[in-house]
Amino acid sequence: MLRIKNYLKKNQVSLSRYINLCLYQKDQGVYQKKTIGKHFITAPEVSQLFGECVSIFFLLILKKHKIKNFCELGPGNGTLMKDIIRSIQKFIDYPLTISLYEKSDYYRNLQIRNLNNLKSEKIKLNFLSRFKLKRKPYFFICNEFFDALPINQFEKKDNRWFEKRVMFKNGFRLVDKLINVNFSKKFVNGDIIEESPLSNLYMKIICNHIKKYGGGLLVFDYGPFKKGNIDTLQALYRSKKCGIFDHPFESDITYHVNFEQMIRISNKYKLKSYGPISQRKFLFYHGINERFTKLSENAESSKITKNLEKQFERLTSPYGMGSLIKCLFISNDNIESSAFSI
Ligand SMILES: C[S@@+](CC[C@H](N)C(=O)[O-])C[C@H]1O[C@@H](n2cnc3c(N)ncnc32)[C@H](O)[C@@H]1O
Repeated sequence: MLRIKNYLKKNQVSLSRYINLCLYQKDQGVYQKKTIGKHFITAPEVSQLFGECVSIFFLLILKKHKIKNFCELGPGNGTLMKDIIRSIQKFIDYPLTISLYEKSDYYRNLQIRNLNNLKSEKIKLNFLSRFKLKRKPYFFICNEFFDALPINQFEKKDNRWFEKRVMFKNGFRLVDKLINVNFSKKFVNGDIIEESPLSNLYMKIICNHIKKYGGGLLVFDYGPFKKGNIDTLQALYRSKKCGIFDHPFESDITYHVNFEQMIRISNKYKLKSYGPISQRKFLFYHGINERFTKLSENAESSKITKNLEKQFERLTSPYGMGSLIKCLFISNDNIESSAFSI
């Protein structure tokens, strides 16, 4: 950290570079040392109900389209894929190849530890540190992957555009750098544009792959239906919101993803997009109620039932994850899904 501070005393870096350092710097970045569940919790970690509903969605499509490859981007502890494998393997009669693409060595080792025992004749597992794909159709899936990718921010002030950059002077802080760009005239003074070059790149690679070979992409992430021109960058430290400079290298940094931008990219590849819809709607249409009832009936103690109720509430609450997280599906095929069509 000292080396980074000294570097930033003399040099400004882009916001995306700072976020990248805080999250992924070897041995120091949050995603290089902290298990998910400590500072923030994600839907698959809340309950197996999440992965089971996702599995039902895929099983419905698999009836028509026999896809043999799955790829999860940013699998964290590996829990979502573990629940998917557990749920769908009994319903398919052909082998599946499952790839887990992960940037952090720490998480990749966790994924190997948590999933290796699911390897079988039917389930082949690939733990990837590079996003290398075969020329075959894949189902891509990701939960809170895009909101963990670094962004840059640009603000319009006095009819000029400034990029927000980071430097170290009595603590990390933001500085404005005047830039010469031609963003659309529709923006007014005070507007902030958030751009994630890496998100756009992944979307392009995935959409190109789907266009060529088939399959689809299922995304779950924090973000509104329509992204406003405001600052959505935030950090989480011990499950509490804080500023991005309050606990550098210790807090998770996220922002609200831009679903409209994802759809725009998929349109360029002439793919079909479904949604976004709320996580809550996705889960209800894919049987969370029924599964919750079944698990509750079989629960061996009232403590387990209470826990299940809490998990169900957390995943579907209109005041939390249930509505804040949205789900988008992109594919080259027409899919029949009442969740996305009503
Ligand atoms: C917020 S966590 C979500 C983890 C998991 N999907 C979950 O729901 O619990 C983001 C994950 O994406 C991974 N990640 C972030 N940037 C990545 C990149 N460029 N390539 C691959 N994985 C990345 C992180 O290391 C982490 O595993």
